Amino acid sequence: MVSLNPVRILKNEAGEEKAEIARLSLFVGAIAIGDLVKSTLGPKGMDKILVAHGRSAGQVQVTNDGATILKSVGVDNPAAKILVDMSRVQDDEVGDGTTSVTVFAAELLREAEKLIDQKIHPQTIISGWRNAVNVAREALGNTAADNSGDPEHFREDLMNIARTTLSSKILSQHKEHFSKLAVDAVLRLKGSSNLSAIQIIKKRGATLADSFLDEGFLLDKKPGVHQPQKVTDARILIANTSMDADKIKVFGSRVRVDSMAKIAELETAEKEKMKDKVDKIIKHGCNVFINRQLIYNYPEQLFADAGVMAIEHADFDGIERLALVTGGEIVSTFDNPDSVKLGKCELIEQIMIGEDTLLRFSGVPLGEACTVVIRGATQQIIDEAERSLHDALCVLAATVRESRIVYGGGCSEMIMACAVMRAAAATPGKEAVAMEAFARALQQLPTVIADNAGFDSAQLVSELRAAHNSGGNTMGLDMESGKLGCMKRLGVTESWVVKRQVLLSAAEAAEMILRVDDILRAAPRKRVQDRGRC
Ligand SMILES: Nc1ncnc2c1ncn2[C@@H]1O[C@H](COP(=O)(O)OP(=O)(O)OP(=O)(O)O)[C@@H](O)[C@H]1O
Ligand SMILES: [Mg+2]
Repeated sequence: MVSLNPVRILKNEAGEEKAEIARLSLFVGAIAIGDLVKSTLGPKGMDKILVAHGRSAGQVQVTNDGATILKSVGVDNPAAKILVDMSRVQDDEVGDGTTSVTVFAAELLREAEKLIDQKIHPQTIISGWRNAVNVAREALGNTAADNSGDPEHFREDLMNIARTTLSSKILSQHKEHFSKLAVDAVLRLKGSSNLSAIQIIKKRGATLADSFLDEGFLLDKKPGVHQPQKVTDARILIANTSMDADKIKVFGSRVRVDSMAKIAELETAEKEKMKDKVDKIIKHGCNVFINRQLIYNYPEQLFADAGVMAIEHADFDGIERLALVTGGEIVSTFDNPDSVKLGKCELIEQIMIGEDTLLRFSGVPLGEACTVVIRGATQQIIDEAERSLHDALCVLAATVRESRIVYGGGCSEMIMACAVMRAAAATPGKEAVAMEAFARALQQLPTVIADNAGFDSAQLVSELRAAHNSGGNTMGLDMESGKLGCMKRLGVTESWVVKRQVLLSAAEAAEMILRVDDILRAAPRKRVQDRGRC
């Protein structure tokens, strides 16, 4: 009875899904992920509420950012996981286009499913897609404009890119304000694209329109009591060291003494040790001491006596950034004052933002450094504002590095789709069918943008296709009026890098998923019984 009882090769809990079943489960997973984020695409896309589980249970995030949504949904399907990963990479690499890349990859797989139903082999589809990617990339490159030669024009390009990126986010209400803020911040970097010099501080209160760019470095801390509240010509020692005298209590070690006097002795000894440490620190010639850990009352008082401003418990990110912008080093031992590099700045003073006081470091050696203070009514608003601003800053930094621009609103997608269609018409063989499918998937992006805005997508996209085929290659969807419009005139500009990355990543991921014909699930590793000492 061999046929009824096939030989089992895999372990008991290990599983295998073969050929059609495997492919189907991959397609279903990928398409579901695409459908999940689809509704957030474009300037009229909707937002999603994410409710956290686990440690931060019940915490609510409201977001439009594809990568953030996908990061927070746990997925089990392998294809879905690949798409989630891809959007995360897009977020890390260029910051924007995370929704587009996911929707495009999912649409490619939706088309592939239909082709496979028509008995076209996956390898044929893949080779058709590869041709299509080359044609599309070339078409995109040919239409990209570069205005970096003219600073005025380039700034306007950057403003337009920032406006386009922000227009799909909560910040679209204050798009002008934030675009200017982001462009100013990125231009301060003078081409270095080191985004860590731009610090973002979130302060609840007031409204989004009250957010501002401060040309210094802000630290959300206060100096200790009785210490100088303002320092000019600061020499800053940045440290990560323990400045508490309670080590015995902290570690719960037992100390046996036979009288109270002995305890007093112990405490005095501890105090002496601390005093030595503070003396060593002051010997560095610093007038500001910033520590990552707590500073207890006694050392705080010693610093106050020596006229040194001491700031405790600066968070790790803050310390790292402070070291970067002031040109100092983070130290934890104080025996070699000569080899320690102190940070410098011209003035440290306190400023008020809303109800809170913060420290501002101005005149720092890293002149590019600046801080964006985001204000907003609720935590969710400022969190989403930060994510959106991060998108804009990343795209702008990428554009400063590679200044070519293309047009949005479905314009670039349609240029690529038309080029691929033309190439398909000239290609003999079944690859042409795959290329046509690729072009259809590209056109899904403007379709979704129009659908999300509540317009008739079939009508608009066919008009757009016709416009492009009759030479209007700056035409796109104007989502304010619901008609076609010239994207160049409307200023719906996007970075070429982002668009190219969307095309390439989505095609690669879809190809990878399509190449699979078998899903094997490994059996969970058995716990081996502990045999005691080794
Ligand atoms: N004013 C506009 N008119 C028409 N289309 C626009 C406009 N502004 C932006 N778009 C289009 O919207 C799309 C971008 O949408 P969105 O920002 O929601 O997604 P994303 O950039 O792919 O992902 P995310 O921003 O979530 O990382 C782009 O294709 C862009 O061309
Ligand atoms: Mg975007």
